[in-house]
Amino acid sequence: MIRTSKLAASVKPSATIAAGTKARQLKAAGIKVFDFSLGEPDFNTPQHICDAAEKAAESGQTHYTPTAGTAEVKAAICKWYKAFHGLDCTPEQVIVSNGAKHSIHNALAATVGPGDEVIIPTPYWVSYSDLVSMTGATPVLVNTTAESGFKMSPAQLKAALTPNSRLLMLNSPNNPTGTVYTRAELEALVDALEKTEVAVLSDEIYEQLTYGDLTPTCVATLRPWLKDRTITISGASKSYAMTGWRMGWAVAPAAVVKAMDTIQSQETSCPSSVSQAALVAALTGPQECVAEMRKEFAARRELTLSLLNAIPGVKLPAPGGAFYAFFDVTAYFGRTFGGTKVTDSLSFCNALLEQAHVNLVPGVAFGAEGFVRMSFATNRATIEAGLAKLKEWLASAN
Ligand SMILES: Cc1ncc(COP(=O)(O)O)c(C=O)c1O
Repeated sequence: MIRTSKLAASVKPSATIAAGTKARQLKAAGIKVFDFSLGEPDFNTPQHICDAAEKAAESGQTHYTPTAGTAEVKAAICKWYKAFHGLDCTPEQVIVSNGAKHSIHNALAATVGPGDEVIIPTPYWVSYSDLVSMTGATPVLVNTTAESGFKMSPAQLKAALTPNSRLLMLNSPNNPTGTVYTRAELEALVDALEKTEVAVLSDEIYEQLTYGDLTPTCVATLRPWLKDRTITISGASKSYAMTGWRMGWAVAPAAVVKAMDTIQSQETSCPSSVSQAALVAALTGPQECVAEMRKEFAARRELTLSLLNAIPGVKLPAPGGAFYAFFDVTAYFGRTFGGTKVTDSLSFCNALLEQAHVNLVPGVAFGAEGFVRMSFATNRATIEAGLAKLKEWLASAN
């Protein structure tokens, strides 16, 4: 028998992946499931991006690449940051990894360890807390509320700082809430760090998906002193419908990139060569595909908001970005559905999936009990039918 490690035992499985697996099992049994659990666009990767990968494979770009990515992909990333955010960076400040999740893992492994504290505002993307714990560092959760639009205040940040604080993790637009901080709000937050040695890990993977007047902010551009203290994370999964290609990156001070490069060289050698060619096409090719997908997400967001707001007891702030609705279902706690008493977000989601075949993710997975997350990265017919089912199921409560 092979014993598994303490590390393996300490990691919780990803709640979103677990929710997706459960739905797939029901689907395999022939049941129609309204699956709103997964955070990935339902669109196929745009054709010109696929063509670039095919061409790369056919022309022999099928070997290991430099650990941090090819010269072409790093140049494409630098050019994109200059054009999109006005951020100057050099290839030595860029590293491409196997998805943004991997970039975050490597960034944390390169910068924090036992005894260090990492400040994470809640609700947070499911993996943050476990990725921090895997390094031996301690996640310090700062709870925000729906009333504040799920935004952490500078006073809350200051109160969380200790001599052991090393890193603040920010994520705007946010998964799971869709919260988008304004530039002024982010300035006020980072100013609380100026006199400290705390660095910022800013996960900006939803930066191309904001709605209405809201615009994304690249945290590294906020203050001149911040660029040397910020690790910017992003990736192609969400904006270019490229989840399966596993392309994420970090832009960070050269010394941090070097440390991440060393870690990555022992972990995976390099990211996939053909995916890197696809990423070059995504970042440097026509951008209309992003605008088209954003337009469709905006329409789905409107539809989702109008249907959810028509359900008694459901409360939610309108998401400013990403493709999630994060809503309060505490009005239904203590009620009985088909003989099952719902007491928290997990029992709510389990009963909803089993009885009405609607799949949502419990808020507890994001550090926010009382809420559930719905991804609207699915077609409008599914949103309409699934939310009708949800409404009907909620009305059946005793
Ligand atoms: C906030 C956030 N960061 C990072 C990721 C990871 O993306 P990937 O590893 O596909 O690049 C996700 C995916 O859901 C996310 O929501």
